[in-house]
Amino acid sequence: MIQLDDNLLIGSGTLRACYQFPEKPDLVVKVPLPDASGGDDANRKEWRSYRQITRMLSEIDHISRCRGFVDTDRGQGLICDCIRDHDGQVSETLLDIVVYREGCDLDYLVEVAEHFCNYLIANDLFLFDINMKNIACQRLRDGTYKPFAIDLKGPLDNQEFLQLSSRIKFLGRKKLKRRARQLLERIVTFHAQRESLKSDR
Ligand SMILES: Nc1ncnc2c1ncn2[C@@H]1O[C@H](COP(=O)(O)OP(=O)(O)O)[C@@H](O)[C@H]1O
Ligand SMILES: [Mg+2]
Repeated sequence: MIQLDDNLLIGSGTLRACYQFPEKPDLVVKVPLPDASGGDDANRKEWRSYRQITRMLSEIDHISRCRGFVDTDRGQGLICDCIRDHDGQVSETLLDIVVYREGCDLDYLVEVAEHFCNYLIANDLFLFDINMKNIACQRLRDGTYKPFAIDLKGPLDNQEFLQLSSRIKFLGRKKLKRRARQLLERIVTFHAQRESLKSDR
């Protein structure tokens, strides 16, 4: 069993908290948030979804790899690769950059997100849940960003009746394209509203 310390916390979503793996900076551990039910389920779905992706693609790009489970003092953890910048800093999410980074290049960020969405669409990776907190932007040495999906539970978290868009490619492609369009629009609106979003925090 590994011990997780508050100072290893990287970020939280609605269901899980993400910690740096103790003494292994290239890995993270995701554990259920104590006040949310569904964290264990999210970990299982993410693991299954990752396995599905590895069966579909011989080479994986733009996806944070999952490595398996580990027992922690905060519940069962899912181990994934930690996305880090060229200088070792944990990469920021697209949301962090759009809302909190002064003077970010909006047109360029939209381009980065579009490239990421096109990769998902071209490979039928029906992640759907491509909100800005689920995309880490790895800053490379030349100052450009490489986007990574860091939350893969989406295909198995489909709330629709019979989960048709996760099972029928034609519907999945349509939905993914719609979600991609929404993401690109949201980058622009969130940037325009960044002052009020910052004060909500
Ligand atoms: N592989 C990763 N590398 C770096 N940071 C990560 C990684 N996975 C998650 N995070 C951080 O943890 C946050 C929550 O993780 P996520 O898996 O999206 O949880 P949830 O299922 O609750 O949405 C992310 O927004 C991000 O800040
Ligand atoms: Mg998430």
